[in-house]
Amino acid sequence: MPVADPNRYRILILFAHPAYDKSRVNRRLFEAAWGLEGVRLHDLYEAYPDFHIDIKREQALLLEHDLLVFQHPFYWYSSPALLKEWMDLVLEHGWSYGRNGRALAGKYLLSAVTTGGPEQAYRVGGNNRFPMRQYLLPFDQTAHLCKMKYLAPYTVHAALTLESGGDLEAQAAHWRRTLEALRDGKIDLEAAAAADRLNPLVP
Ligand SMILES: Cc1cc2nc3c(=O)[nH]c(=O)nc-3n(C[C@H](O)[C@H](O)[C@H](O)COP(=O)(O)O)c2cc1C
Repeated sequence: MPVADPNRYRILILFAHPAYDKSRVNRRLFEAAWGLEGVRLHDLYEAYPDFHIDIKREQALLLEHDLLVFQHPFYWYSSPALLKEWMDLVLEHGWSYGRNGRALAGKYLLSAVTTGGPEQAYRVGGNNRFPMRQYLLPFDQTAHLCKMKYLAPYTVHAALTLESGGDLEAQAAHWRRTLEALRDGKIDLEAAAAADRLNPLVP
């Protein structure tokens, strides 16, 4: 495990929302993580509005952290385009995967995703027909190929109907507590890898 202090994971949030000004939910979650010690925020659309990703800079950032978070709205059952571009360019063969690619080995990957659809839509028989973990399999397998462990996703459903006051504030506070618990090693990561959803693991 590449962790200096076993009870303290250095977290990097790779945030991908193409319209921060129009975002309500991701923006609030992003803000909820501001100022948390041991949690670094990296807004990809702000850093790379023209999609010209600085691969070396990104790789250096990854090396400094133990737990990576892909935070984004669910767009067409996947991520916004820049996160995909980031994966295509940054996760190089021979660096993160392949016989000699061990740069990310032992680290953790977490998807933190907001969806328009309600939770009950994401199940067999629901409107979206499949559970979130199935939609997120490309991220899960990417983590596996890079010798990382993929955790159960943190999901915020029915994002469009979350009330700006109470519901959204409670959700943002829960996300902050979740990041603190992850950072401080208070979540059993084996259990978190096996679960359907990370949210219930934090009170
Ligand atoms: C281009 C686009 C594609 C979307 N695709 C999905 C989708 O596949 N499934 C879903 O549940 N919601 C989908 N939505 C709804 C967004 O996930 C929702 O608006 C977002 O999570 C709200 O977060 P925000 O307030 O941070 O923008 C889509 C929205 C847009 C604009």
